Amino acid sequence: MKERLLALKEEALQELAQVANQQQLNDLRIKYLGKKGPLTEILRGMGALSAEERPVIGQVANEVRGAIEEVIEAKQAEYTAAETEARLSAETIDVTLPGRPAARGAVHPLNKVIQEIEDIFIGMGYTVAEGPEVEQDYYNFEALNLPKNHPARDMQDSFYITEEILMRTQTSPVQVRTMEKMNGRAPVKIICPGKVYRRDDDDATHSHMFTQIEGLVIDRNIRMSDLKGTLLQFVQELFGSGTQIRLRPSFFPFTEPSVEVDVTCAMCGGSGCRVCKQTGWLEILGAGMVHPNVLEKGGYDPQEFTGFAFGMGVERVAMLKYDIEDIRHFYTNDLRFLKQFVHL
Ligand code: DAH
Repeated sequence: MKERLLALKEEALQELAQVANQQQLNDLRIKYLGKKGPLTEILRGMGALSAEERPVIGQVANEVRGAIEEVIEAKQAEYTAAETEARLSAETIDVTLPGRPAARGAVHPLNKVIQEIEDIFIGMGYTVAEGPEVEQDYYNFEALNLPKNHPARDMQDSFYITEEILMRTQTSPVQVRTMEKMNGRAPVKIICPGKVYRRDDDDATHSHMFTQIEGLVIDRNIRMSDLKGTLLQFVQELFGSGTQIRLRPSFFPFTEPSVEVDVTCAMCGGSGCRVCKQTGWLEILGAGMVHPNVLEKGGYDPQEFTGFAFGMGVERVAMLKYDIEDIRHFYTNDLRFLKQFVHL
C-alpha cells in the first residue's frame, strides 16, 4: 500500500509539472484530491489494515496528500498572480495622454458692447434701467407724443399682439416708465439696453429683432450743450480719444429739437472709405431735448425741468467697432463667428 501511495505521488507530481493553465490545474486537483480520486480510495481501504500498519500508512498517505496539495497551491498562486497582473495592466490609465479640453463659453459680442457702453455711462453717474419687451401702446407711442394715427408711427412697422399691446419697437418707452417710477424726483439719469422688434425683411443691415440703448437725463437747467458734451465723451471712450461728433437736425416726435449724431469713421479716421461710403462720417444715434409733452406725461413740469434723450442701435455700433459686415451674424450662432470675440 505504501508503494501504491508513493507511486501515486510520483505520478501526480509528474503530471502537475506539465500543467499549462488554470483549467488543467483544476482538473488535476479533482483527479488526485477529489472524493472519487485514488487517494480517497486508498484511505477508505485503511480499515482492512492491521493496527500496527494503520498509523504508518496513515502517515505516508498524509505526506502524499500534503506534497500534492503543496504543488497545487504553488501553481494556483502563480496563476492568481498572473491573472491579477493581466487585469491591472488592462485597467491602466495613461496619465500622459492629453486630456479632452472642456469647451469654454464666452460673452456674446453684443453683450460685450452693451457692457462696455454701460460701463462708460455708469462712470458718468448713470444707472441701468429695464423695461418689458411686450409693451403697451401707451408707453411705446402715446406717451412719447405719438398719438394714434400720428404719421410718424409709420416710421416703425410694429408687431401688434392686440390693439393695445405690441412688441416694443424702441427702448424709448422705458423713458416714460422711469419718469413714472421717479415720481417727479430729479435728477433722472438712466440708460436702458434691450431688445426691440420691427416688421422688417432681414438682410445684411436689417433685422426684425435688434438691440437698442436708450439714454435719458432730466433735471433743472439741462441744455443741448449737456447732450453734446455727454455724447462726445461717450464716443471718445468707446471709439478712441480722437473721435469727433457731428449733429444734424432731424425729427423724432419725443424730442424737440431733434438731432442725428454722426461720429468720425473709426475705420479711416475721417478721410473716407468703404465703411463710411467716402463721407468720413457714420451715423450712430438719434437724440434731442425731451419734448415738453413727454415730460408732462411722465409727471415733470416742463416749465421747471428740461432733459435730453438719445437712442442707438447696439448692432450698428458693434458692426462699426469690429468691422462686421452682416447683422445676421449676431443671431445665427455660428461658433466660427462667435469665437473671434472670445479674447476681447
Ligand atoms: N427711439 C428712436 C428710434 O428707435 C431712437 C431715439 C431717437 C431715441 C431720439 C431717443 C431720442 O431717445 O431722443 O429710432
